[in-house]
Amino acid sequence: MAAPDLDQMWVRLDGQNLPMQQATVPVSDHGFLYGDSVYETLRTFGGAIFELEAHLARLRRSAAGLYLDLPWSDAQLGIELEALRGALPEGDHYLRMLVTRGSGRVGYGRNPDQHPRLVILGGPIDNFVVQGLSATIVPIRRLARETVSPALKTSNLLNLRLAFLQAQQAGFDEAILLNPQGQLTEASTSNFFGVIGGRLFTPALEAGILEGITRRVILELASELGLEVEQGYLTLDQLPTLEEAFLTSTTRSIAPLARLDEHQMPAPGPVTARLIKAFRARAGGL
Ligand code: PDD
Repeated sequence: MAAPDLDQMWVRLDGQNLPMQQATVPVSDHGFLYGDSVYETLRTFGGAIFELEAHLARLRRSAAGLYLDLPWSDAQLGIELEALRGALPEGDHYLRMLVTRGSGRVGYGRNPDQHPRLVILGGPIDNFVVQGLSATIVPIRRLARETVSPALKTSNLLNLRLAFLQAQQAGFDEAILLNPQGQLTEASTSNFFGVIGGRLFTPALEAGILEGITRRVILELASELGLEVEQGYLTLDQLPTLEEAFLTSTTRSIAPLARLDEHQMPAPGPVTARLIKAFRARAGGL
């Protein structure tokens, strides 16, 4: 699932709901000047925001990682999200919440007059599982944990966007990135799961990935289903051992992969199908 079309989106900015085309942020905002911003993509199922607390906690971790103080409580952020939802048509919603460092003079130094800016985008979202994606291991590597940590959900997304463009240019739906050590990390906007020898596999956080909230839910469901799970490291030579694979994210929920480069897999395979069913039950929708 891609984000909604621009003309279906509304924006909450400075306490107002605006149609997307009318919502503007000043050029002096450091989100624009430096990509200095953090974000969360959320969605609703049956009218309720899925895993709201976990998203707000990750937003705080990302902000702290950029030495950005959030002046809002979780309750205030929740009120802002709901205020935007009031402007959206009935149904389930996509919500993207950004916090930029705000407008300030040009330069990296601390600016006492600079205040973070909260922007929330919202629009309709579909409830279905996209079947049978193709993915390729792209040449560009995921950033090392010692750089801007992949664990921070920042809007500084060029590493991932270039990965996606490389995949698209090669004729694939998605990109999978290796870390500088050559271990598999994640896709351009989602986490990676596989099934190897009947066991669920997903790259360890230490491989340098975003700790996806959907990933965490899948790990919980896998444990409830009694599946064996390994969070570890996978290298290119092990790709042929993948029996199944799927991607997870807030917007995609679970997206089975039919192909990873030359390697074909059932989509969904039996383990993935069980997890999709369990996810539907947990989310009360999809
Ligand atoms: N992307 N990995 C990356 C690099 C991501 O950008 C995302 C989320 C995920 C999955 O995280 P979660 O399950 O918490 O959504 C993993 C969102 C959907 C986005 O970019 O809009």
